Amino acid sequence: MDQTKILLIDTDETSRDFLAQMLHKKDYIVSHASSGKDGIAKALEELPDLIICDTHLVDLSVVELMEKLGQNPITSHILCIVLSSQSNPDEMHKCLEAGCAEFYVKSGMVMITMVNAIPKILLEKKRDHPNKKNGLLVVFLSANGGIGTSSLCANIAMNIAKQTHPATVAVVDMVLPMGSLSQIMGADDGEFNILKVSEQPVDEITTEYFREKLILPPFWLVHLLPGSPDPGASNSLQPTQIPAMIITLKKSYNFTIIDLGRSLSKISLPIIHEADLIVLTVGTNLSGVNLTKKAWNYLLDLGIEKDRLFPILNRAVGLEGLTKAEAEKILGFDIKLTIPYMMGNFALANNQNVPVNLKFPNDTVSIVLKQAAIEISKQAMKVQG
Ligand SMILES: Nc1ncnc2c1ncn2[C@@H]1O[C@H](COP(=O)(O)OP(=O)(O)OP(=O)(O)O)[C@@H](O)[C@H]1O
Ligand SMILES: [Mg+2]
Repeated sequence: MDQTKILLIDTDETSRDFLAQMLHKKDYIVSHASSGKDGIAKALEELPDLIICDTHLVDLSVVELMEKLGQNPITSHILCIVLSSQSNPDEMHKCLEAGCAEFYVKSGMVMITMVNAIPKILLEKKRDHPNKKNGLLVVFLSANGGIGTSSLCANIAMNIAKQTHPATVAVVDMVLPMGSLSQIMGADDGEFNILKVSEQPVDEITTEYFREKLILPPFWLVHLLPGSPDPGASNSLQPTQIPAMIITLKKSYNFTIIDLGRSLSKISLPIIHEADLIVLTVGTNLSGVNLTKKAWNYLLDLGIEKDRLFPILNRAVGLEGLTKAEAEKILGFDIKLTIPYMMGNFALANNQNVPVNLKFPNDTVSIVLKQAAIEISKQAMKVQG
């Protein structure tokens, strides 16, 4: 069995060393950080099983530290114990609210009690998060074409990678019969794509295989699995390999983000069922909104819970069309976010294979895309629990 890794965050070297000695005696692997920021960096790098943190940090309050660890999907599952030198009910309450598992006030015997309690705390956590090794699965879906689903998928994925750095993000193009993400992200139309993966024997679809093969397009901060390069080639897709592919992607990346386009098919439905979050892009024309309503009802009929659906209104074609309120009235559900019309600038960024946030960092669309990334990752985490 792997040895348990514990990260100690404490400004005071003497008390850190004292606790480290106690933990070494119990065979834990111990690492040290002398500030909150150093602690976050080490937590991300080393992924300890447990963090023990003193409340007297020079750069961050312990509550801020708990919040920062809790907001990042990479560190949000790490168990935290807070050690305080004085009883402070307000601080204790805030720490527990921010996700810390235990709060101890230091006194004679308390260190021994805490060290002895660690196996029990870790065991309880395992029971609460049996799937903690799986990343989050987010799919992008639309009821009609040409409304910016692929553009949003690529750009929101890039923002998720940026906001959750150094979380790893895989983006998969499953639009049939032809993908467009490699065009948007500027990846070469090489040999490797979803069709090639589906031709692999299941036991060769491994984490190492994806790490070696997925493409890192410049500027995008994500690992891309390109789609079918042309309609003729798409016939070679082997649907039987898709479930294994999804399982391995989830184990290999913190986020797997899939562009499904407007597909509600035998291939896409199992992926939709598996997804933690379904981002439903909605256009502003009446027929598209009516189709979206049908797709929404269909998904609910399949047993998909409402909190797994994340509708976004995208003004991809102009200022005309339905307003958010008008669309919501027809749809019968709330739209989470509206992406404003960006005129030709979105197409310009796409044509130059650059994320919108990099090309037009001050545009409202960049701000909304960042917001979308934050809300989508939070909601997906909430759903996974
Ligand atoms: N908010 C926006 N403002 C302006 N243009 C946009 C906006 N969103 C998307 N576009 C543009 O809309 C066009 C279509 O986008 P995209 O290819 O992403 O749509 P899609 O729904 O994936 O289409 P398809 O059905 O072909 O897969 C692109 O030129 C893109 O730049
Ligand atoms: Mg598309």
